[in-house]
This record gives sequence, structure tokens and C-alpha cells, in this order.
Amino acid sequence: MSSKDDILNHPLPKHIAIIMDGNGRWAKSKGKIRAFGHENGTKSVRTTVESCAQLGIEQLTLYAFSTENWKRPKLEVKTLMRLLISSLKKEIKTLQENNIRLNAIGDIKTLPTKVYNELIHVADATKSNTKMTLNLALNYGSRDELTQMVQKIGEKIKNNIISSEKIDESVINQHLYTRNLPDVDLLIRTSGEQRLSNFLLWQIAYAELYFTEVFWPDFSDEDLYKAIASYQKRERRFGKTSEQLN
Ligand code: IPE
Ligand code: IPE
Ligand code: MG
Repeated sequence: MSSKDDILNHPLPKHIAIIMDGNGRWAKSKGKIRAFGHENGTKSVRTTVESCAQLGIEQLTLYAFSTENWKRPKLEVKTLMRLLISSLKKEIKTLQENNIRLNAIGDIKTLPTKVYNELIHVADATKSNTKMTLNLALNYGSRDELTQMVQKIGEKIKNNIISSEKIDESVINQHLYTRNLPDVDLLIRTSGEQRLSNFLLWQIAYAELYFTEVFWPDFSDEDLYKAIASYQKRERRFGKTSEQLN
């Protein structure tokens, strides 16, 4: 068992990213349609967001819709977009009460207008909140992000705004959707899959990875604390030896 008090006694990850997976299988296991899983997944989003803020996590990044998810049946995509709009409308209150800022990452301009407008509205209404930033990855793909980064930097080189010798890691960081965010410390994926599915490939270069069999709609505070406790037991060496760290 990992209690909240236990994990508060050790250094916390600054930035947690979560691949919220398994809504469909969760619903299927209950003899229900996939949409039922997505609806119940939104409850886990709320509890996880609140718990992370209360723990003092500074950045929480949630993978909500990937650039590949457009390949799903039209009706499922529609359901996901509808749920997004209703969750944003409903949860703006939760964000304000917990002093959380919403920041969308991904190619959000090409999302349906209603989703885009709601996102901008909530991001704007919460922009002065300081306790935690919730980065919602929507129409997000790491390869898309890296491609756009190269295009943007290439454009600047062409226009003599920057010279190619000046390109370093910080310049690259500044041209990603996640500009100004610290690197991910802990990446969690639910549902037993052990892959990255095009999520934050640059940003997780040195993240600790945590995989759990729990389907996203069942992901509880206890599961969150377990993941953080596992992170806290690891020695992050960043290339050094163990002795150098002490
Ligand atoms: C995660 O659950 C939600 C999204 C990807 C939008 P899935 O819908 O991928 O559920 P499974 O993986 O099919 O069980
Ligand atoms: C990753 O889950 C995307 C999100 C959680 C939004 P998927 O369920 O789409 O990933 P794959 O297809 O199993 O790799
Ligand atoms: Mg999945």
C-alpha cells in the first residue's frame, strides 16, 4: 500500500504524463459499448487531475486524442469530441476551484471548431491559475510535433532569424508544443500496453516509465500513489554512476 502521506515524504515528480488507455476494453469486459468506457474514463480524469494538484504536482500532461485516433470509426471520434466539449464545460469549475491552468498541446487548430473554441475559452479563463498546469494532448502526435518544429526552425533559418549553428536543445524545445514545460519525470500508461504510441518522444528521453494493467476508467487515487511510489524508489542517474550521486 502506498499512502498519500508516504509519497509526500519523498521528492515528487514535477511533471507526470499519462497515456490514458483501456476505455474500450473496460467497457467490453462489462458487456457495454466503447462509448460507455470513454464516459467513465472522464471520471478518472477528474479524480487524477484533482489528486495531482492536491499532491503538489506542477505539470500533468494527459494524452486524450492522438493524431492516429482519427482512424477510428467516425461515430467513436464523434463521441470522443462530444465528451471533450461536455467535460470542458463541466470541469472548468473543478479547474478554478483547484487553481489549475489548462493548456492544450497538439495540432488543435484542425480540431472541430466547437472543440477548439471551448478549449480556447477554458485555457483563457484559467490562464492566471498557478497551482498546476494541466496539459491536454489533443490531436497530438510526437512525429507531427517534431515535423512542425523542423519546419518552423527551417523557416527562421531561411529568413535569417536564426543561424543553423545556433540550433541547440533549448532552441528545439522552444519550437515544440510543450515549449516552457520541464521534461517529463514520470510516464504512466494504463491497460497493460507497453508502448509509447507517438507520445512525447523528445520529452520523455529521461522519464521513468510505469506500466499498469489497470484500465483507465478503474484508475484510482491508490493507483496514482502506487505509480508515484514506484518512481520514488528509482535512482535517476542521468548517465552518472550511483556513487557520483551521493
Ligand atoms: C483510451 O482508451 C482512450 C483513447 C485512446 C481516446 P481506448 O479507446 O484506446 O481503449 P482500448 O485501448 O481500445 O481498450
Ligand atoms: C494512445 O492510445 C492514445 C491515447 C491514449 C489518446 P491508443 O489506444 O490510441 O494507442 P494504440 O493504438 O493502442 O497504440
Ligand atoms: Mg487503446
